[in-house]
Amino acid sequence: MKFNVTKALLNDIEADCEFIIVVDCALDHEWVKDRTDLETLGFEGKSEEVAFLPHQHRVYVGADSLDRDEVRLAVATAIKTIEKTKYQTIKIGAYTQNCPVTNTKAIVEGIKLGSYIFDKYKSEKKEQPNRVVTISLEDYNHKTLNLEPAQKAVNEAIIIADATNNAKEIVNSVPDDMTPANLAIFANDMAEKLEDVSCFIGDENFLEAQKMGAFLAVSRASTHGPRLIHLTYKPKEAKEKFVFVGKGLTYDSGGLSLKPSDYMVSMKADKSGAAAALSILKGAAELGVPFEVHAIIGACENMIGGNAYKPDDVLVAKNGKTIEVRNTDAEGRLVLADCLCYAQAQKPDYLIDLATLTGACVVAVGEYTTGVMGHNSTLKHEIMRSATKSGELTGTLPFNRYLKKLIKSQVADISNIGSSRYGGAITAALFLDQFIEEENKDKWLHLDIAGPAYVDKAWGYNQAGASGAGVRMSLYWMKDHQHKLSTHHKEEA
Ligand code: BES
Ligand code: ZN
Ligand code: ZN
Repeated sequence: MKFNVTKALLNDIEADCEFIIVVDCALDHEWVKDRTDLETLGFEGKSEEVAFLPHQHRVYVGADSLDRDEVRLAVATAIKTIEKTKYQTIKIGAYTQNCPVTNTKAIVEGIKLGSYIFDKYKSEKKEQPNRVVTISLEDYNHKTLNLEPAQKAVNEAIIIADATNNAKEIVNSVPDDMTPANLAIFANDMAEKLEDVSCFIGDENFLEAQKMGAFLAVSRASTHGPRLIHLTYKPKEAKEKFVFVGKGLTYDSGGLSLKPSDYMVSMKADKSGAAAALSILKGAAELGVPFEVHAIIGACENMIGGNAYKPDDVLVAKNGKTIEVRNTDAEGRLVLADCLCYAQAQKPDYLIDLATLTGACVVAVGEYTTGVMGHNSTLKHEIMRSATKSGELTGTLPFNRYLKKLIKSQVADISNIGSSRYGGAITAALFLDQFIEEENKDKWLHLDIAGPAYVDKAWGYNQAGASGAGVRMSLYWMKDHQHKLSTHHKEEA
């Protein structure tokens, strides 16, 4: 797929097909050229409604407004509608009265996200023609004629959507294919193709040397050994340091506290935090953000076997804290505990973990929303604002002292599950909090992506399966942060 932006009028652009967004059911708008046909079809122009007129070579899609995510959804719906056609070239207006950036970006993201197909394991691959999309800034023409911001927006959107689709590809890959060792190879290959990015991979010997007793215990019963994957993007004159930590359970059977069959299916997606962290790093490096960015991943499999770790075991984490295991299915927090200790040695300015950590988070906020937790409300709101712009849904879940008491243990420093069945997403986060050093409390954010990372049915512009949750919100956040720093700087100057 290729994208062009132009100042040319839509009517003057040659293309096989045109996309037209009908906003808020306004069929009388000047953009609508086939009102009678649309009325015959009963097309009203509601959100996600689409009408393909093959003789006119036009696709009409409804949208409630021209907000970014409405635009993404509309163009994604349109591109899916013409999936099987032979159209090579598409034109669309940017619908941008005052700013050439926002909608241009949304159009590119919507088309790229909406046309992602996962067919790695199909013997017959769907043929995707290499389409060219031309975006016209025609209704922006009367203002200062500067194409540059729109072209920059296109490039950014391509990077952000590609990073998201990259995460989908990792998550959708099956456990026997994407083992911890293979995930490490994938990460290393990715790093080699990126500028200013280095890659370190540690195996069980490294974990032992690092005294990562919790991570090692979870990994022990699998024939596929664990890997700690650490990617670093270090541009010259980096301003701040962002460290992303990802839960990389390439499979979660539950361990001896075995999951019931119905709940085990789709646990290939328990590596979604890892996929997100890797893809965020890829996106950040391609965008060339002026920050040092780290992706630290705990990759392993939670399996059963004669040497499996057990409920009743007491583990010693990297920071020396002892953990009573009461449920081997609460394994993500054990792996993350050690990885978070390791991550803090980097002296981060921002420490963000991403994990498909709890079913309780899905119960709390639903399948489509990421649970945002942490001590710093400014930081939480900052990422949530960026998330909204990116099209990702978020909600905060609050800490409190009473929930904190639920993870006390009688035999060790802390228990790996809460003693009540309520508030499970928060008690899991409060478990992680035990491994955050005092000086880093306000730098830390925990993103529970158990819901949106993998959804069985397609939703919005997301396909069935992986959605790349966490990638877009983090990249938008870093870009917004960069923007904030540069405007601050100007004000000071
Ligand atoms: N990987 C699961 C959480 C999960 C559930 C992710 C559903 C995606 C969809 C995690 O390791 C887990 O099993 N958590 C347990 C914790 C419990 C034993 C305290 C859970 O949520 O049931
Ligand atoms: Zn589990
Ligand atoms: Zn898990």
